[in-house]
Amino acid sequence: MISSFAHCKEQLEDGNLAILPTETVYGLAANGIDPIAVKKIFSLKGRPPTNPVILHVSNIKDACKYTFIDENAEKLAQHFWPGPLTLILKKRDIVPEVATAGLSTVGIRSPSNAVFRKMLTSLSFPLAAPSANPSNRTSPTSASQVLEMFGDLCPPIMDDGPTELGIESTILNLSSKKLSILRPGHISAASIEKCLGVPVSTCIELHEEHSKLKKSPGTSKVHYAPKTPSILHKSVKDCLEYKNITPNDLIIIHSSRDIEKFDRLPCKTIALSKNGNLNEIARSLFGKLHDFDKLHYNQFHLCLNELKDDLAYAINDRIRRACAKNS
Ligand code: TXA
Ligand code: MG
Repeated sequence: MISSFAHCKEQLEDGNLAILPTETVYGLAANGIDPIAVKKIFSLKGRPPTNPVILHVSNIKDACKYTFIDENAEKLAQHFWPGPLTLILKKRDIVPEVATAGLSTVGIRSPSNAVFRKMLTSLSFPLAAPSANPSNRTSPTSASQVLEMFGDLCPPIMDDGPTELGIESTILNLSSKKLSILRPGHISAASIEKCLGVPVSTCIELHEEHSKLKKSPGTSKVHYAPKTPSILHKSVKDCLEYKNITPNDLIIIHSSRDIEKFDRLPCKTIALSKNGNLNEIARSLFGKLHDFDKLHYNQFHLCLNELKDDLAYAINDRIRRACAKNS
């Protein structure tokens, strides 16, 4: 149910859950240093205990209470916080094992959303908060999406309207010598390299490395999946040439400018933005997937974004995962 700041705060202080807005997606929050509270997150989401959650703090000083902040982490936090950058760092003992799935590292970030920040400053503990969706479903960018997914089991929600950015934070692993991006987002590898003056490897390399090491929590391919089966097309051209499109399908493209090209196909086509603006596409992607998932389409057709751009790369990561098969 939609609730007040005071009620959500009370719930969190009592070791219960609350849904809070961030600048990326809505988060399912609990006291991040109370193992019983953190367990409630896993059980409501149906999240495997092997997939760690991230901690949210107000500032670098608080981050130091829960992690070992080295020189790189401090530079990045000073430059990008508050904002959509999660740092994976060695954890301090106070962080419970259930939060980190037994890893010696923890993900930490300082969100910029004003409501979330007000909550953090009014509490004496950090907030663990994964995206507020049942495990493997699409992350929510509005309060109504959260309500629909959790139904009667939904914890109190602070509604702050649609989220500003629409896709989750960039995750950077700072816990090994070679810095690497585990999940692309608005903050690009290039901007991190510029801030630190050292190379950062991107997630494609890292996915491979991680699958070898078998320690890739949450980087599983099946994620963000709509219930409607979704077909991936490498380009608008590939989608236009695809033979098996039926009248009850929905084609989801990036720019209204391309819509006319699809007129001759037998099904409806919608665009994520008016003119291909990447920020607009990122903001609308998950919301559109949620909305159209309710309408019983036979299947979705999603096209990759063809721009050579870091945000296009992050958007394509989410599109690929939305189309990954549940096997
Ligand atoms: O934008 C965001 O990051 C949102 C908002 C609510 O802050 N949160 C979010 O959390 O996306 P979640 O749990 O849905 O995604 C965090 C990802 C998971 O894939 C998890 O496996 C990974 O971070 N992660 C957490 N701790 C980690 C660790 N110590 N090492 C490697 N990956 C980690
Ligand atoms: Mg998530």
